[in-house]
Order: sequence, then C-alpha cells, then structure tokens
Amino acid sequence: MRVTRRYRFCASHRLDTPAMTPAENQRLYGKCNNPHGHGHDYELDVTVEGAIDETGRVVDRPALDAWVQARVIETFDHRNLSVDVPNLKGVVATTENLATAIRDALVESWPLPAKLAHLRISETARNVFELEVK
Ligand code: NI
Repeated sequence: MRVTRRYRFCASHRLDTPAMTPAENQRLYGKCNNPHGHGHDYELDVTVEGAIDETGRVVDRPALDAWVQARVIETFDHRNLSVDVPNLKGVVATTENLATAIRDALVESWPLPAKLAHLRISETARNVFELEVK
C-alpha cells in the first residue's frame, strides 16, 4: 500500500547557467532569469510504500515527518536554492534538479521500514514534477 504525506516549504531561485551568455540565459529562462531571483511556495508530496504493520499503519507518521524535516525542510526552507544549498551546488536550481536533490537527501540512510516510492513537487499550480524512486 502507498501512503502520501504532504509538506510545504518556501524558497527562492534564479535559473541561470554559467555555460551560456547572459543573453542566451535570458532567452532560455525568460523572467526566471531575472538577476535577483524570485520565490515559490513549494508543495512536496512524499509517498512511501509497504505492508500494513501490527499497528494497522504503513508508516509511522511522526517518524516520517522527523526525517523529512531533518533532510528536506531544514536544508531547503527559506533558502536561496541557487546560492545557499550545498545539495544544489553546480546545477541550475530547476525543480527537476531540486526533486533529484530531495530524493538523494531522503534516501541516504533512509530509516523507515516502508520504502520511499515517489516524490511529487508542485512549484506553481501549473508546474508539477514527479519522480519515481526505484
Ligand atoms: Ni521559479
């Protein structure tokens, strides 16, 4: 069975790659390339998968919350993703790369019996990113 828990965090970013000129960056990323960045209220759905245990649950929700808090919220919340977050060093802070960094942060030493199955990050109401965790 799969269980999804929803979290929220706020962060800013600027889409810009040093591999391209300022004009090329502006053309590629548009207003997401504005020099001083902009913010998003990200919504993160963490889906775990496992058997129903003797407590009648698939996952201990406080334990999952503590792990997401430690690995995601404390790292990414109220940060400039393009500047402040070591997990995103050397990559453009797109939500594709953010999703990958969040997956990597969560799976390393994952402490729960249920396995991490899927991540979904909503950047805006129209931009939603999904990542199946193998
Ligand atoms: Ni943006």
